[in-house]
Formats: sequence, C-alpha cells, structure tokens
Amino acid sequence: MDTIRYLNTRWAHLFENKIRTFFVNKNVLDLGCLDGYGTYKFIKYGANTAVGIDIDKRYIDSAQKEYSNIDFILADIEDYDFEKYFLKTDVVSCLGLIYLLKNPKYFLEYISLVKSIKTIIIETVNYKDNQELLLFENFKLLNINVIENIFNKNGWHISFKKDFKVEKLDYKILNNLTFGDRVVLIFEKN
Ligand SMILES: C[S@@+](CC[C@H](N)C(=O)[O-])C[C@H]1O[C@@H](n2cnc3c(N)ncnc32)[C@H](O)[C@@H]1O
Repeated sequence: MDTIRYLNTRWAHLFENKIRTFFVNKNVLDLGCLDGYGTYKFIKYGANTAVGIDIDKRYIDSAQKEYSNIDFILADIEDYDFEKYFLKTDVVSCLGLIYLLKNPKYFLEYISLVKSIKTIIIETVNYKDNQELLLFENFKLLNINVIENIFNKNGWHISFKKDFKVEKLDYKILNNLTFGDRVVLIFEKN
C-alpha cells in the first residue's frame, strides 16, 4: 500500500497544537483521505467525528479495513454531490489534495460557497510567484495568493497561515521552490 506516513515532520506540522484548536470537538470531512491515516489523526487529536473521502478504491478499502470505526466514502470530489455531508460538517480538510484536482480553482470556488461549512484547512505546495496556475509533472499548483483571493471575496478570512518544509519531498519545481515547500492555510467564515 502506497503511504506517506513516513513523512513524520509533515504530520507533526499538520497536527500541531495551534491547528488542533480549529477541529477539536468538531465534525471533519477529510477530502482526499488516502489510506485514512490523516482521518484517524483528526479523531486522535480531538475531532468529534471524521469522515474520509477518496477517489481510489484501493485506499478506501485499506482505510475501511484499518479504521473500522471511521466512515470512508469512495467518490470523486470534483464530480459528486456530497452537499448532504456538508450539513453534518464543521471543518473540511484538503491536505495534499488540491494540486491533484482537474480544476482546483473551480473546486475551491465551489466549496467556498457552501453555506454550512465554517472552517477549511488547506495544505499545499507554497507556490506564490507569477502565474495563477503552475503545471509541474502531473500536478496543478494553484498560486496561494489566488487561493486566498477566492476565500476573501466569498466571505471568509484567513485565521492561520504557516509555511513549513518537508525534507523528504525536496525535489525541485523552480529555482526557489521545491515540492517540500508547503503551506497550511485555515479559512473561517466571516
Ligand atoms: C497526496 S494524497 C494526500 C493524502 C492525505 N490527505 C495526506 O495529506 O497525506 C492525495 C489523495 O487525494 C486523492 N484524490 C485525488 N483526486 C481526488 C478526487 N478528485 N476526489 C477524491 N480524492 C482524490 C488521491 O487518491 C490521494 O489519495
């Protein structure tokens, strides 16, 4: 099973104390949950509930097997009417996900307009130069200034922002940027 659990520094940054305060006692929808390890961590660190969604059946099968007390859904989040889940969701997480989407900008516009969600946690590559979208291998790196603009114009504010580095993802995208240059952005409704 493909897994990224070996990225210990990354997990430590993603679930540090300041970030936990945004999801303790909340209901989390973990988009792009892979094998459920992050979904499990939301519960471990105090979420009331966490549900994982992933497009890949192998990951969902593995997640269901390993964490039988957590709900996992097999679905393409870009082509699935999962608004009914939003009604039970306080916090949406998109960790290491948006650069894999066919249309990350469209998806973030869509999710930023869902009324019931109050908090969104995004972790992605910290790309903020020049153009809106940078294509790198199979990834679509949306400029983080564009991400912030989408949420700001749709009635959100940024509550937390932190740059960090994951050494084991240290392959070069541009001269001043590697895949391990990451950022966590947490938006809340105004
Ligand atoms: C790089 S992994 C990140 C996993 C985990 N969230 C983490 O941060 O470690 C991205 C995951 O998103 C899933 N994914 C990609 N596109 C998706 C889509 N359109 N709908 C649902 N899941 C998707 C992939 O199958 C993969 O498991």
